[in-house]
Order: sequence, then structure tokens, then C-alpha cells
Amino acid sequence: MEHSIALVTGATSGLGHAAARLLAKEGWHEIIVTGRSLAGAHQAAAQLEAETKTHVFTPLELDLNAPARVQSAVAALVKRGRPIDFLLLNAGLVPFKKRELTASGIEASQAPLIGHHQLTVGLLSANLLSPNARIVIAGAEPARGGVPLFSYTDVPAFAAKYHAGDRTAAVEALLRNGPNVKYVPNNAYADAKLIIAWWVAALARRLPSGMAVYAVSPGGATATKVVRSAGPLLKYLFIPIVNLIPGMNQTPETAARRYLQASEFGTDVSGQFFASAQGKFSGPIEAQRQPHLHDRASQEAAWQAVVKVSGADFEPQTRAAVGSAEKKRPGGP
Ligand SMILES: NC(=O)c1ccc[n+]([C@@H]2O[C@H](COP(=O)([O-])OP(=O)(O)OC[C@H]3O[C@@H](n4cnc5c(N)ncnc54)[C@H](OP(=O)(O)O)[C@@H]3O)[C@@H](O)[C@H]2O)c1
Repeated sequence: MEHSIALVTGATSGLGHAAARLLAKEGWHEIIVTGRSLAGAHQAAAQLEAETKTHVFTPLELDLNAPARVQSAVAALVKRGRPIDFLLLNAGLVPFKKRELTASGIEASQAPLIGHHQLTVGLLSANLLSPNARIVIAGAEPARGGVPLFSYTDVPAFAAKYHAGDRTAAVEALLRNGPNVKYVPNNAYADAKLIIAWWVAALARRLPSGMAVYAVSPGGATATKVVRSAGPLLKYLFIPIVNLIPGMNQTPETAARRYLQASEFGTDVSGQFFASAQGKFSGPIEAQRQPHLHDRASQEAAWQAVVKVSGADFEPQTRAAVGSAEKKRPGGP
């Protein structure tokens, strides 16, 4: 991919900031860095310029919780009219001790996906992703299961119990944290990252043939602010214990490098979720093979629920694209 224009969401701290810095070091011509407020984005750009001694950062206001503000960000990008080569959808959070909903009724840790979907669909519809663009969205290991204190919802069972088998309605309930969803912050986070893994698979079937999308877990990088709003058990017990175990934590820079690594992957692995090896939060990333991640009905239900909740759809070549993607990957990854 030509190192031309990248856009990094959530660049005001942590991994987004580290990724923007790495992109500058790797010679990208322009890196659009977003913050919830324009002032925050300007501050991040100024800090990155000082750190890298380059002038390649463009600040952009992007509050993923507010659909009108996502639309404003898309409008600003449309006005510029220059296609993006690498769209890094990094923003996210481990949610609050008490349930929080956005003004649109979306649970706080699910909201970044809704905003990221609106942004991605807006750019695709405006033809503002370059023909070989790469899209990377932040995933996390709890989406595959087996992480202490984090459990994802069994969506087929939940749909059967409360939604007459309708998985789209079940995923919508998770996005809104109700009805019939008990709020457990770590589980909301696991569900948010699982829905991201499904969304990626469904988006891959809809993208033009040269483009690709991947969910990538940066792995454990506890020096960021990711758990700033989390409860004391996670902040003061689980993470300090995990930090003592070799191979369970890494620097933000090492974690952010995974995003850049994935930006070089081919279209043959588009739609997959890359994360640390089972039982680890660092080291090399690999495509995840757990069957629930590859359940096509859940992937499509997640897409439809996100479309419904966000009000943004992208279906230009769905039928042809879905058919050819199936032929290319008969047995999954
Ligand atoms: N660090 C880890 O161990 C780890 C592990 C696995 C996955 N991840 C994922 O990596 C990503 C980055 O996390 P991090 O560790 O760098 O955390 P961080 O230091 O808290 O940075 C998160 C960034 O996302 C932004 N953000 C969050 N929600 C947003 C929203 N609704 N609208 C706009 N911006 C929003 C934050 O902006 P504000 O400062 O304005 O809130 C901040 O810039 C997240 O998706 C996280 O789930 C992290």
C-alpha cells in the first residue's frame, strides 16, 4: 500500500496516539488524528508533531457517541475530497462501573462501533476510501472467550430465549444493553468486541474487491487509559496480577504496531479477527478460529443490528460480493 493518507480514531491517548506516531515514523504523508473535541484533536496533533518532528498530522473532531457529529466529520472529509488509504478505527473503552447509555440509547462500550460504522459507511458511500484501502478496527481477546472475569453472551441461546430466535433483535438488545440484558461491565466489553469481530466479517463481504478489513486486538497494554472508568476489581486486582505474569503485557508502542502490521495484510484474510495466541495478551498475532466467531448467521445479524441502530447502510455490490467471498473462503480461515 502506498503510504499516503491514514486516519486514526481516538488519537488523544494510548494506542491511537502511539499508532499515529508510528505511522509518521514510517513515512505516511498525512495522518488525520481524531479527538472527541477539536481542541483535543489539535492538542494531540501538536504533541505528535513535537514527538516526531514532522508536520504530517491533521486534527479532526470526531465524537463517536453523537451521530450528528460523526456526520460533520464525514462532511469535513468529503470537503477535502482526498481518499484515505488506511482507516484505523481504534477508539474504544472498557465501560463504566454503572451502566451508561449515549443520548441515542447505546451502551457506552458499544457506541464506538456505531460511530465507526457511520464513519466507514459515510466514507465508502462518498468514494473516499482508496481502491486498495485497509480498514483495521480494535478488537480484544475477550471476544474469543477464555479470559478470566470477561464473558461474552451466547447470542443464539439469548435470541432463542427472548427474541423467538431473531439474532438481529438479540444483538440490538446487547448494543442497547436491554431488554433482558443484565449490565456487567466486563461482559458488555466482551460483547462489544465480539460484535466488532462479526461486523468485520460482514463488512468484508460488502467491500469492493481491492479493499480489506480486519479486527485486530492490540493485546495487553495496561499503561494506556483504557480501564480508567472500570471497576476496582479490574483496575486494582486483575490488571496488577496480569502485569506480574511474563508475556501478558506490552508497551503501547508494541501493541499499536499490531495495527500497522495488519494494514499490510492481503485481501485473502479480509474479515478475520487477529489476536494473541490462546492464553496470551502479547506476542505474535494470529487469525482466531473459535467457531462462534465464524458463525455466519451471527455475523449477518450483527451487521443488520448495527445498520438498524445507526441508520447507515452500505449495500452497493452485496449480492456479487457475498457470493464471491464465499467461493474464495469455502472452509473459513
Ligand atoms: N490497552 C489495552 O490493554 C487494550 C487491549 C485490547 C484492546 N484495546 C482496545 O484498544 C483501543 C484503544 O484503547 P487504549 O488502550 O489506547 O485506551 P485509551 O488510552 O483510553 O484511548 C482510547 C481513545 O479512544 C477515544 N474514545 C473512546 N470512546 C470514544 C468515543 N465514544 N468517541 C470518540 N473517541 C472515543 C478516547 O478519547 P477520550 O480520551 O476523549 O475518551 C481515547 O482517545 C480500544 O478500542 C480498546 O478497547 C486495548
